Amino acid sequence: MAVLQRSRACGLLVLSAGMTVLKLGLARLGDAPRIAVMSRTLIESGLPWTWTPRRVAAHMKQRENLSVIATVERELAGFVMAQFGNERVHIALLGVAERYQRRGLGKQLIRWVEESAVVAGLFQMRLEVRATNRIARRFYATLGYSELGSAPHYYSGVEDAVQLARDLRVEKRIADSG
Ligand SMILES: CC(C)(COP(=O)(O)OP(=O)(O)OC[C@H]1O[C@@H](n2cnc3c(N)ncnc32)[C@H](O)[C@@H]1OP(=O)(O)O)[C@@H](O)C(=O)NCCC(=O)NCCS
Repeated sequence: MAVLQRSRACGLLVLSAGMTVLKLGLARLGDAPRIAVMSRTLIESGLPWTWTPRRVAAHMKQRENLSVIATVERELAGFVMAQFGNERVHIALLGVAERYQRRGLGKQLIRWVEESAVVAGLFQMRLEVRATNRIARRFYATLGYSELGSAPHYYSGVEDAVQLARDLRVEKRIADSG
C-alpha cells in the first residue's frame, strides 16, 4: 500500500496510508521491552534471543545510540536502532510488524537514520543481515546498499551474516553535480 501523505512537525513524522496513521518519533527507554519482543519474533526467529529487553535498554542508554519507533495509536509498528561511531553508523536492529510491512515504513525508518548520519557528518552506513533473509537483502538493495561479503557463523555461531554498506556521499555528489 502506498504512503499517501507525509509531514514533519516537532521531530514527529506522520505517514498516512489509507486509514492508518503511522507516527515516527524517538524511542524511550520504556519502549525497550516491546522492541526486544518484536526483535525476537522478526529478527532472531530460530536463533537464541540475544536482543533481550536489558540489552536493548543498555544500547538505548548509550549517547551514540539513535532509536526511532513507529506507532499506530499505542501499538508498536516498527523500530530501528543505530549506533553512531567516529567514522560510520551501524544499524543494529530494524523491524516492521508484519501487518504494516510493504507500506514504505522500513524505508522511512532507515531514511531517518541516514538523514541523522549526514547531519552528524557521517556518510558510511553499515549493517549485517542473516544470509537467509532474502527479503531484507532485497529491501536494502532497493535502498542503495551493497553487499560487501559474509561473516561466517556471525549469529550465535549457527548462521552466516551478509555485511551491507552504503556510502551516502556518492548520491550526494551525483545530486550536487546534477
Ligand atoms: C525488511 C523489512 C524491515 C522491510 O520493511 P517494510 O516496511 O516492509 O519495507 P518497505 O515497505 O519500506 O519496502 C521498501 C522496498 O523494499 C523492497 N521490499 C520490501 N519488502 C519486500 C518483500 N517482502 N519482497 C520483495 N521486496 C520487498 C521493495 O522494493 C519495497 O518497495 P515496494 O513496496 O515499493 O516494492 C521488513 O520486511 C521486516 O521487518 N522484516 C523482518 C525483520 C528484518 O528482516 N529486519 C532486517 C534485518 S535486521
